[in-house]
Amino acid sequence: MAKSYTFFKSWSTTLLGLLMALGTLTNQAEARAFFVFGDSLVDNGNNNYLATTARADSPPYGIDYPTRRPTGRFSNGLNIPDFISREIGSEPTLPYLAPELNGQKLLVGANFASAGIGILNDTGIQFVNIIRMYRQYQYFEQYQQRVAALIGAQRAKQLVNQALVLITVGGNDFVNNYYLVPFSARSRQFPLPNYVKYLISEYKKLLQRLYDLGARRVIVTGTGPMGCVPAELATRGRNGQCSAELQRAASLFNPQLAQMLRQLNSGVGRDVFIAANIQQMHNDFVTNPQAFGFVTSKVACCGQGPYNGIGLCTVASNLCPNRNLYAFWDPFHPSEKANGLIVQEIMTGSTEYMYPMNLSTIMALDSRT
Ligand SMILES: *[C@@H]1O[C@H](CO)[C@@H](O)[C@H](O)[C@H]1NC(C)=O
Ligand SMILES: *[C@@H]1O[C@H](CO)[C@@H](O)[C@H](O)[C@H]1NC(C)=O
Repeated sequence: MAKSYTFFKSWSTTLLGLLMALGTLTNQAEARAFFVFGDSLVDNGNNNYLATTARADSPPYGIDYPTRRPTGRFSNGLNIPDFISREIGSEPTLPYLAPELNGQKLLVGANFASAGIGILNDTGIQFVNIIRMYRQYQYFEQYQQRVAALIGAQRAKQLVNQALVLITVGGNDFVNNYYLVPFSARSRQFPLPNYVKYLISEYKKLLQRLYDLGARRVIVTGTGPMGCVPAELATRGRNGQCSAELQRAASLFNPQLAQMLRQLNSGVGRDVFIAANIQQMHNDFVTNPQAFGFVTSKVACCGQGPYNGIGLCTVASNLCPNRNLYAFWDPFHPSEKANGLIVQEIMTGSTEYMYPMNLSTIMALDSRT
């Protein structure tokens, strides 16, 4: 770590010198840019602009958002990227497909995430028109060209190199692919341990590509405890127990992801990729919801059937009066309250949660000159 720190320090000093020489980087230098890639856990509304059923653009989604209206976020209010934007002192990132994302707003960053996607192209095929990972990267390249046209190629490159990046993907490769139907194509092709290895090898390529596209600080979340979400309790769990099979998938996937990130970092000689152990964070709610002020981590606030875990959250669903008392907003997604707690852990968590370091440490390191 000492070695990569020195390297980083001299790198950032050089960049800062360049910026000062250019002399004109003012407002946008106050907060670093933020880029978001991945699935519904981090989608800020791209799917609103697509012909897909994977969307969160009708009530009661957004019921606790400042506007009290649905935005496309899969939350009653803010999601994980929103809380991170707040921590780094930025406005929330706009969805890349939003028409308002142009001019100076581009310098805040952009959100490329799309609900339903996975590491693999064949994940979420039932949602038809969603922005798969390779396409999120194409948009990221297009974004960089647009920013270069605005502030010049050199400064655009710096903006990307100094940005914070979040990527959350992988859960759908299980729930919306391998386990989507019994005897799915992927489950006939691979036993679970081999499927996990395949996912990790494909994810590694995606992260290498992100580095090649200029990302230098990337928070990579693992999957949550997928077997314990209300949807799985309702459909697979017995007597309110988490689905053993999906829990097994998460416990195979997450440690191998952390291992792969360590390999990537040692390859580039710097701590570019930071592992966020969402499984552990979320497990804390699942094992002791009361400690976090939740009445339950089993029942979704919005939904129907056992655990409110069946079907979609719509105006016709059961809706809890106080969303802050629920760890899950809908059958798959955490509540705003849970998202905020997860980001607190990302900010200040120990190395058990954030490896090799938490976001406060990253911010302190990156701001040092
Ligand atoms: C996903 O699809 C894109 C576009 O067809 C292709 O370029 C890419 O290689 C595919 N990725 C994988 C892992 O097959
Ligand atoms: C962040 O991580 C470091 C190193 O693990 C730890 O010492 C510190 O207490 C954590 N929290 C903050 C706010 O830095």
